[in-house]
Amino acid sequence: MKLQPTPAQVEGPYFLANSPATTPLDLTAAGGKGDKFELSGQVVSTDGTLINGATVHVWLADVAGAYDNQDAQGNAIALPPAKHRLRGRIITGADGKYTFKAVRPGNYPLSQNGTDFRPGHIHVKVEAKGYRTLVTQLYFQDDEYNLQDLDGDGFFKPELLIHASPVVPDGKSVQKGVYNFVLEK
Ligand SMILES: [Fe+2]
Repeated sequence: MKLQPTPAQVEGPYFLANSPATTPLDLTAAGGKGDKFELSGQVVSTDGTLINGATVHVWLADVAGAYDNQDAQGNAIALPPAKHRLRGRIITGADGKYTFKAVRPGNYPLSQNGTDFRPGHIHVKVEAKGYRTLVTQLYFQDDEYNLQDLDGDGFFKPELLIHASPVVPDGKSVQKGVYNFVLEK
């Protein structure tokens, strides 16, 4: 059986390559007052092999929709690793697993008019020796802006939705999501 590779999406301006590789990775303190989630899954090859030693970079906005490395105008700024608060790196073991916790990222405006917003999303870059690097973004099933995101042919991809429980945050429990990344050689 051959698995479909995870679809790619744009990297955006806020990636930083040198985030601390912290275990366990918990970004909740920097996210602000919002719904908490935990995302986990495995990195696998299209032939189903679990990928050991893959690097999963994650970065996301806080509950207000701001990244840790943006200025008031939204421009990306330099940020030393000690000041990285909404990003990190996870290295998989033999089981291919990764996991991290964070606050649900907020919507942020697509343009200065402030009427169009991006759905909350998690940026991801997955690197593994011998495989093509995957750059993509993950989304939540209950976000009202999923279907009116960035322009471009089919920007919204249902394959990039996180399957979470509960599907909609209930204000009490940590929403648990699962997403497996499929890399191709
Ligand atoms: Fe973003």
